[in-house]
Amino acid sequence: MDDGRGELVAIAGEAVTLLTRELARGRRRIELSAAPLPPALAAPALAAPAASTPVDAATPLALPGFEPPAPPRAAAAAPLPAPVRLAPRSDLPGTLAEVKALVDTCRLCPLCETRTRTVFSDGTDKARLMFVGEAPGRDEDLQGVPFVGRAGQLLTKMIEAIQMKRGNVYIANVLKCRPPENRTPIPTEVEKCIPYLEQQIALVRPDLIVALGLSAAQGLLGTKASMGALRGRTFEYKGVPLVATYHPAALLRNPGLKKDAWVDLQRVRDMLREGAPA
Ligand code: URA
Repeated sequence: MDDGRGELVAIAGEAVTLLTRELARGRRRIELSAAPLPPALAAPALAAPAASTPVDAATPLALPGFEPPAPPRAAAAAPLPAPVRLAPRSDLPGTLAEVKALVDTCRLCPLCETRTRTVFSDGTDKARLMFVGEAPGRDEDLQGVPFVGRAGQLLTKMIEAIQMKRGNVYIANVLKCRPPENRTPIPTEVEKCIPYLEQQIALVRPDLIVALGLSAAQGLLGTKASMGALRGRTFEYKGVPLVATYHPAALLRNPGLKKDAWVDLQRVRDMLREGAPA
């Protein structure tokens, strides 16, 4: 019977290989820790190495994506389950283009009176990874594209920090119209608008959804739980794995949260790598 010793021997062998490589590079001390924040997520105050950083100054710390082998994992990432075939809603059109056309003429809530443009999606409808935000802001309302303002620029960096391209993911929001002054969506707006998002998810069929912020996480999961309670876990939205992390706007307001967001992103990266039903 397999008592796990074979796996331990394999892990030890891998560790010896890695240590030998680091010693050959001249590194004399190695500390086990989560991978450092990539430059995109590093707050200026965190950029300088702490005095106690136990790394040989001549050997720069590897950044995720800049080393040939897979970087060390920040947190255990369970493999993704087999992809599911979500059934699209029968009360909405069956193609993304048709759903977008419907959204463009939507008058189900008063936000249609104040919007400049509806904001449907960005990226590819063949994406394995889908990001869901809250609602368009001013820039998005003007351009008709989600996440193009400051928070959007940070989201792009976050995507690139896990070695993906913005054009290869799918990005959408819970609300398709901008709430005045960027206020938090109210429940009646979410109730009217979320069927469009549900249809987007059913038609894109991503392997993994990342809910950015509480509005997205709570809206999709139907919970009132805090971000502290939601982070670090994997939920399911109609059979599709879903993880929650901080909204990029929250990271801009509070750069101290970037460390946690980076841990979440590394888990996302690992889930996609390991789960990997292509
Ligand atoms: N914030 C969001 O939640 N969505 C956007 O599209 C832009 C900012």
